Amino acid sequence: MINLAQIVAFGLVYLQRPVSAGPIPPDLSFSPRSVPFPIDPDRLPPFTRRDLTSQQVQRELGPLLSKGSSIFGPEDPRWDNATERYQTYAIPDIKVVVRPAQEDDIPKVVKYANGNSVAFMAKNRGHALTATVGNFKGIQIDMTSLTEIKYQPNMKSAWFQGGTFDHQVMKDLWDKGYVATTGSCSCVGMMGPGLGGGYGRYQGLYGLISDNLLNINLVLADGRHIKVNEKENSDLWWAMQGAGHNFGIVTSFELKIYPKKVDSWYYRNYVFKGEKLESFFTEINKFKNNGSQPGVVAADVGFYAVDKTVDEKPILIWSFTYAGPQKDAEKIFERFDHFDHLSRVEGNLPFWQIPGVQGTGLDDPLCESGHTHITTTAGLQVYNITAQRQIYDLYEKKTTDKPELGPVSRVVLEGYSFEAVKRRDPASSAFPHRNDYILTYFDIVDPQNYGLTDYARKWARETQDLWNKGQPEWRRSTPSTYLNYAFGDEPLEAMYGWEPWRLQRLKDLKAKYDRHQKFSYYNPIPPAKK
Ligand SMILES: Cc1cc2nc3c(=O)[nH]c(=O)nc-3n(C[C@H](O)[C@H](O)[C@H](O)COP(=O)(O)OP(=O)(O)OC[C@H]3O[C@@H](n4cnc5c(N)ncnc54)[C@H](O)[C@@H]3O)c2cc1C
Ligand SMILES: *[C@@H]1O[C@H](CO)[C@@H](O)[C@H](O)[C@H]1NC(C)=O
Ligand SMILES: *[C@@H]1O[C@H](CO)[C@@H](O)[C@H](O)[C@H]1NC(C)=O
Ligand SMILES: *[C@@H]1O[C@H](CO)[C@@H](O)[C@H](O)[C@H]1NC(C)=O
Repeated sequence: MINLAQIVAFGLVYLQRPVSAGPIPPDLSFSPRSVPFPIDPDRLPPFTRRDLTSQQVQRELGPLLSKGSSIFGPEDPRWDNATERYQTYAIPDIKVVVRPAQEDDIPKVVKYANGNSVAFMAKNRGHALTATVGNFKGIQIDMTSLTEIKYQPNMKSAWFQGGTFDHQVMKDLWDKGYVATTGSCSCVGMMGPGLGGGYGRYQGLYGLISDNLLNINLVLADGRHIKVNEKENSDLWWAMQGAGHNFGIVTSFELKIYPKKVDSWYYRNYVFKGEKLESFFTEINKFKNNGSQPGVVAADVGFYAVDKTVDEKPILIWSFTYAGPQKDAEKIFERFDHFDHLSRVEGNLPFWQIPGVQGTGLDDPLCESGHTHITTTAGLQVYNITAQRQIYDLYEKKTTDKPELGPVSRVVLEGYSFEAVKRRDPASSAFPHRNDYILTYFDIVDPQNYGLTDYARKWARETQDLWNKGQPEWRRSTPSTYLNYAFGDEPLEAMYGWEPWRLQRLKDLKAKYDRHQKFSYYNPIPPAKK
């Protein structure tokens, strides 16, 4: 009997750490295309304390911060853990880690960094994928001590500190009988995904993470600590919901919460042979019906994977989840019983355990830090079956040519209900992808271990081209990239929207709130020219 967890575990044997490969991949010629803008002369510091040491920062900044805060450098035992990242393709050059114990410490760190002309960057769970973080050199503001959740008396919302993360939020709320919108992977932060929208299993019922924000406490580039909501700083409020990484550090945010309504979620995982691709994708398209599956039909996640113990050819793994009881779900998923599956497993679990059966739990290989990921992505409305076949055939060909890449490469196809996401007026927030109902992702892990980084880059590009060529005519020249899945070399329009007013508005806001581009390491938006 095969189940998804076993296959995923088997498929991802790459999780043994690379033995000798250093964290920096050989292919450093890569320079992200999304930072072509010239450096603003205003941004150049009058002087830079280039050799600022962690001891100096401790001495100078330490006394200003609250008790329990810490400041440390590479000699500290906490360093490796604090600077570890999911994606090691392009890593930031961290000089000092500052771990504030209280929200009010963050403005002080920002002002200190500015006063010394040193760059700063927030880090929470360290799962940023984009190579643009590799342009950073300076002080890491480590958010991981700021994990408090404070429920409002009416239990309609709660305040979450900026370092809260998905597993914590899913579990803490569920135990109290509540749920909230989170990412679908247990390991990522709330604000890393949330500032760029934030896809997850409750979005069909309640919308994206960003759709559920009520209030943000934000530290701006100059160190001012402000409140951002529909009424206060409302221009920025618009931008924080989709392009927020560009504008400040969220020390805490108020998010809607909901009574959980059900005691368990249902899941069903299938494994199919590759030959079923056409008929299966035809059915999936009907099932999703152009993004109109009901909110409770929460998520379907598919993989192309190589597992020779199951089949010689790449297999299709598909996992469905339903926000409710099995008896209701059975009627809905029954239609997928007709593709001669090699395996089918199902069960009922509390919501916070669902990530673990869809390959996205805390202990799943997918969440593990410290690897180089060559990735690509494309947002789609429907599956183009010809394109999905071409991508499959390419996957088969490449993993036959280079069998060592079989277990370390996968095509991931994420589909969520968009019911509540579509209800919101697209112009009302900076999130531009309300019509992308399928989130694709292609990942090759640690190809440098086999000297195949260039090979992997080329394969990733070919896969992305096939997705984009398979789009309806009108979308082919305007491909879409979920900014939190970006590799870092995509056009800004793909990430922030092709309607010219979107990027213009963001650039104007950038000029107003972050003219000196202090927040320019996460798919940065250049400021409008004066
Ligand atoms: C395994 C995996 C699973 C994923 N699953 C999902 C998913 O289910 N849904 C989804 O939408 N996306 C998902 N993503 C993409 C995810 O949204 C981004 O990778 C995100 O940046 C991760 O946030 P983090 O806190 O883990 O990473 P970090 O690297 O710590 O943060 C990423 C960036 O976010 C900013 N940031 C973080 N915290 C704050 C803050 N408090 N204030 C201001 N800025 C902040 C910083 O610019 C930072 O560089 C996933 C990525 C991976 C690798
Ligand atoms: C650091 O250690 C903590 C506690 O052991 C762990 O939860 C966390 O995932 C680690 N961080 C990283 C980036 O690996
Ligand atoms: C899907 O919906 C979008 C709008 O959300 C529409 O533009 C497109 O034509 C629809 N496609 C199909 C195949 O129905
Ligand atoms: C599907 O993809 C193929 C291959 O790229 C393309 O020729 C075809 O026009 C696409 N079909 C639709 C409906 O977009």
